Amino acid sequence: MDEKSLVRGVMALKWEAKYRKRFSGEESESRAFLAVPERLDEDIYEAVLQINLPGCTVLDIGTGTGDHAIFLAQTGYQVTGIDIAASAIAFAQKNAASHKVNVSFIVDNILSSSLKGQYDIVIDRGCYELIAIENLEIYLASVMRLIKPGGWFVLKTARRKRRIEAVKLTTGLNVVKLDDAAYTTLDGRVVKARILVAQKSH
Ligand SMILES: C[S@@+](CC[C@H](N)C(=O)[O-])C[C@H]1O[C@@H](n2cnc3c(N)ncnc32)[C@H](O)[C@@H]1O
Repeated sequence: MDEKSLVRGVMALKWEAKYRKRFSGEESESRAFLAVPERLDEDIYEAVLQINLPGCTVLDIGTGTGDHAIFLAQTGYQVTGIDIAASAIAFAQKNAASHKVNVSFIVDNILSSSLKGQYDIVIDRGCYELIAIENLEIYLASVMRLIKPGGWFVLKTARRKRRIEAVKLTTGLNVVKLDDAAYTTLDGRVVKARILVAQKSH
């Protein structure tokens, strides 16, 4: 196994351990789990609505427990959610079943994604900021491969200037919105963030 595969394997194990702790009630790192179930980010939903492609295909990268993916599926989008952590995906699948909604949840690493298709909208809420600096180019190339020509990237991420610059500089995406935003964590804290909405050329 080469060094990169090893690092990715360690990353998957790290997230797996975090989710197992969370699901067994030992949650101690709420900062790592940003989405509050049933309280979805209006700014992400607004961005999707403004893109104005009702019923289109959406990919949610680092979907976690799948709350945003499920919400978007309930509002008529055809959603795929991927996550590196198998236990998160297992939870998301049960979560979707209990909401009686169809979402394709897949265990997948965005740095070596096995997805073959392309999507009208690719969303990332809280995953990009966790990607190691040396892997940003791989992440961004993967995102670009997964967006259809003319499709969109909706990114909500921690306020890290260098990372946001990397999206602008390395992808060629046309950034139509870049605003201050915030995450609410499971323990009720508000964490400063940025939201970026960008389109791929046709
Ligand atoms: C901070 S959580 C955010 C989860 C969800 N998007 C939300 O907003 O609640 C980041 C998620 O990214 C996943 N993740 C981390 N690295 C990943 C990778 N390389 N590929 C796919 N998912 C990854 C983690 O397992 C975790 O579920």
